[in-house]
Amino acid sequence: MSGFLKSSVGQKFMMSITGLFLIVFLVVHLTANLFLLVGSDAFNVVSHFMATNPLIQIMQAVLALGFILHIIYATILTLQNRNARPVSYNKFEQGHSSTWASRNMYVLGFMIFVFLVIHLINFFWKIKVAGSPLLAEVEVDGVSMENAYALVSGLFVDPQLGIVYSIFYILGAIALGLHLHHAFWSAFQTIGWSNIVWRKRLEVIGDIYAIIIAAGFSMIPLYFLIFGN
Ligand code: HEM
Repeated sequence: MSGFLKSSVGQKFMMSITGLFLIVFLVVHLTANLFLLVGSDAFNVVSHFMATNPLIQIMQAVLALGFILHIIYATILTLQNRNARPVSYNKFEQGHSSTWASRNMYVLGFMIFVFLVIHLINFFWKIKVAGSPLLAEVEVDGVSMENAYALVSGLFVDPQLGIVYSIFYILGAIALGLHLHHAFWSAFQTIGWSNIVWRKRLEVIGDIYAIIIAAGFSMIPLYFLIFGN
């Protein structure tokens, strides 16, 4: 097993498996976040469920491990590719079957990583550790819970930084969409779930998925920018 993980095939396999796991997470996370557009009670109930369900708590640890392994293997493979190919592969590949996104996966991944760190400080850190006056308890259907809706909407409607954060979140969603445009079919190809017929289909499904994720996450700051909270 450790030999497999040291081979570049094994490392690419790990990057793909963790990537596919993150692809599933994004669907769940976007679905939960779209309740922001339904209203404060709906989002607070979903958020309260996520924060109190024991299975979700275990999945959060698995998720953190998934992100860490994905980043580690992506970094190892990128460095290995660089060292093995002193003449720029990017230039050589340009204009053939590659796309801008496929040639810049690590740059896009790094942008998503920077987005994620700031994003976790914005919400996760405040909900789990630091707290915020915006989170003051509210009651929904007789159940007392934190006002996660006020924390999230408060970031995008903030009179000073709301516009900056909104643009930042939209750019993060676009970088994520471009990353997924290449990552989706490529992950299936690496684990062996692709062939000549399915490669084209997976590219189309991947593009639809990438557009839904990028547009879905962008819609949230846009909604608050336009309608306030
Ligand atoms: C408009 C866009 C987004 C909103 C409003 C949003 C909202 C949130 C909130 C409120 C939390 C804290 C949940 C809790 O701890 O109870 C959270 C956590 C998290 N978000 Fe986002 N998110 C957005 C986009 C993204 C994107 C694009 C990614 C991935 C690249 C992402 C990855 C995560 C991760 C990994 C966590 C920590 C795990 C978790 O709590 O589920 N988020 N997000």
